[in-house]
Amino acid sequence: MTHPTDAQRRHDPAVRGFASDNYAGVHPEILAAIALANDGHQVAYGEDQYTEHLQDVFRAHFGPQAEAYPVFNGTGANVVSLQALLPRWGAVIAAGSAHINVDECGAPEKVAGIKLLTIPTEDGKLSPELIDQQAWGWGDEHRAQPLAVSITQSTELGTLYTPEEVRAICEHAHERGMLVHMDGSRLANAAASLGRPFREFTTDAGVDVLSFGGTKNGLLFGEVVVVLNPEKVRNIKYLRKMSMQLASKMRFVSVQFEALLTGDLWLRNAGHANAMATRLAEAVRGIDGVTIVRPVQANAVFALLPREVSERLQKRYRFYFWDEHTGEVRWMAAFDTTEADIDAFAEAIKEEMGRTA
Ligand SMILES: Cc1ncc(COP(=O)(O)O)c(C=O)c1O
Repeated sequence: MTHPTDAQRRHDPAVRGFASDNYAGVHPEILAAIALANDGHQVAYGEDQYTEHLQDVFRAHFGPQAEAYPVFNGTGANVVSLQALLPRWGAVIAAGSAHINVDECGAPEKVAGIKLLTIPTEDGKLSPELIDQQAWGWGDEHRAQPLAVSITQSTELGTLYTPEEVRAICEHAHERGMLVHMDGSRLANAAASLGRPFREFTTDAGVDVLSFGGTKNGLLFGEVVVVLNPEKVRNIKYLRKMSMQLASKMRFVSVQFEALLTGDLWLRNAGHANAMATRLAEAVRGIDGVTIVRPVQANAVFALLPREVSERLQKRYRFYFWDEHTGEVRWMAAFDTTEADIDAFAEAIKEEMGRTA
């Protein structure tokens, strides 16, 4: 057997960025789990022993009724989940900033044929009052029927819902005949920051179906559609296949989640990423001309600084403009961001700001 050599490595592992937690590699414990599952043959398409055991892993976190359906990616998890909540004439209410609205190339509309009813928010969070802006028109055949609400935890703007806020949304939605989806692409970051078990702000708060994220928390790839209310959310297995999200070698997705969720790897990774974001926010708060514009509650920092400074910084570190119009930028920490990475980046910000003064 031949192994790759250092000469074949096409990237510099010392280069770090702050563009996305997706820029990070795979946690070594996850890679080891994949290797463990590798030898021999297992039945394909989810009939393997890792996927069978995964059901127990998810039930331990989300309650005995939970059903886990591994998928390839977060967009797929959302598209599969939303289809299970809605008939052909259904619509989903979501924040304008929701990933399903702005970052999925219209997949919920185009792949699932779902109408999105969006609401502008201050902080990426919906509330019962905000939901009411779109929760109307049932029985009117001229309006796509609002039959689901989708919220994101932690949000695209790095903010968090408390368990009580999630519960209020779910009660409000359910009273009006709507089901609730949670995009939990960064659910682990939320749990680590809230210091609460997953189920307190999902199952126990009334969420019906969840897109549970793994990729951003140290997996090679993979997310899980978690059905929390099997009485109302059905037929995921057909929708997953129709949506091209059924992995033939599913054992390799499942074993990663087992490694992430059986012990405390999920918490170590997410807690660390959150702590690095907090460290960055604290380091730059003291720099004249740099403003942290949103609460730092998970692993994202949003800041305003002169555009030319950001552009110079981008030559040294990768990160994105969040809002091209205002010049707001987003910096994200990952499970493998080090304190030294943060300190070097903060120093670079200071230097570039100094060149402007
Ligand atoms: C909140 C949220 N949901 C869903 C996704 C989709 O994940 P993927 O890129 O795996 O489709 C992302 C990815 O950035 C995300 O931030």
